[in-house]
Amino acid sequence: MICLGIEGTAHSIGVGIIRDMGGKCEVISNVIKIYHPEKGGIHPREAANHHANHIADLIRESVEKAQIDFTNIDLISFSNGPGLGPCLRTAATAARALSLSLKKPIMGVNHCVAHLEIGRGTLRDCMDPVLLYTSGANTQVIAFAEGRYRVFGETLDIGIGNCLDKFGRSVGLEFPSGPKIEKLASLGKEYFELPYSIKGMDIAFSGLLTAAENFYSNGEKLEDICYSIQETTFAALTEVTERAIAHTEKDEVLLGGGVAANKRLRDMVQTMAKERGASFFVPSKDLCIDNGAMIAWLGVLMYNSGIRMKVENSFIDQRFRTDMVDVSWRD
Ligand code: ATP
Ligand code: FE2
Repeated sequence: MICLGIEGTAHSIGVGIIRDMGGKCEVISNVIKIYHPEKGGIHPREAANHHANHIADLIRESVEKAQIDFTNIDLISFSNGPGLGPCLRTAATAARALSLSLKKPIMGVNHCVAHLEIGRGTLRDCMDPVLLYTSGANTQVIAFAEGRYRVFGETLDIGIGNCLDKFGRSVGLEFPSGPKIEKLASLGKEYFELPYSIKGMDIAFSGLLTAAENFYSNGEKLEDICYSIQETTFAALTEVTERAIAHTEKDEVLLGGGVAANKRLRDMVQTMAKERGASFFVPSKDLCIDNGAMIAWLGVLMYNSGIRMKVENSFIDQRFRTDMVDVSWRD
């Protein structure tokens, strides 16, 4: 089975094509266009216009790169939440149009669950992981328990990526600031104490963000502040992930989301996993960030488990929670 997936929950619009290899996923193309706001944060309407301008070309490009014909596609999948309303509607509209014109079934899928399933689908031996999902808007620790993907811990305010980007904006770094903060942090030497807030398995970043901004206003070196932000936030993320592993008694850790590109975060989580005797997995960067291939793969899993969706019922849900999904494709 070949599936084309469309991802458009936030600032990127992506189209991926995958082939089902009997339970494992072969990515045959995965193309993306990222909206960069001229200044400030994401404006949902502008991001949606950006997606609408690029989606037709991306669909064509994905089919060309996959070296297939439109008639080879068996299923159209799209992310139906959570995310920004105008962006979700744009991706859904493209998916519906494609489904109707190709006369192929449609499947709306949960974006967060897709981040986890692409790890299981593409990485050998990744079977039942605890996912640390760290992106711009989302920060969650997710694992399978009793028929659902449960959120064991999550941010109580902003996502870790947003925290990094907001700090970057307030000190004049370009968006997205995560990669720039990583570079600066590698030059940092002095550690500043920042608020470390964990409640059970939940986590909060806004107090730390304000404190870091204050260090900057007081003239401290940017490299040292970036270093302190990374050490503090990543230690907290690693701690909640470790708690979730202990609680669920699982022995695999998977990273996902754009912040998983960060070497320091990977190292910390990997060290923790090693110390607990757990396996550590991280997909290639193009499958960590928001991408169409992961949406296509989850569409296939759902379709193969017997789930069907009609175009007229292919709604979006901005607040579609991870644990609302009935995971019928796993035992
Ligand atoms: P979602 O809609 O799932 O919240 P997103 O739209 O934020 O995702 P992603 O591509 O998953 O998109 O993640 C983008 C985030 O990743 C940005 O906040 C960016 O600063 C951060 N990021 C990217 N590379 C790095 C890095 N090397 N270190 C830290 N953060 C990074
Ligand atoms: Fe995401």
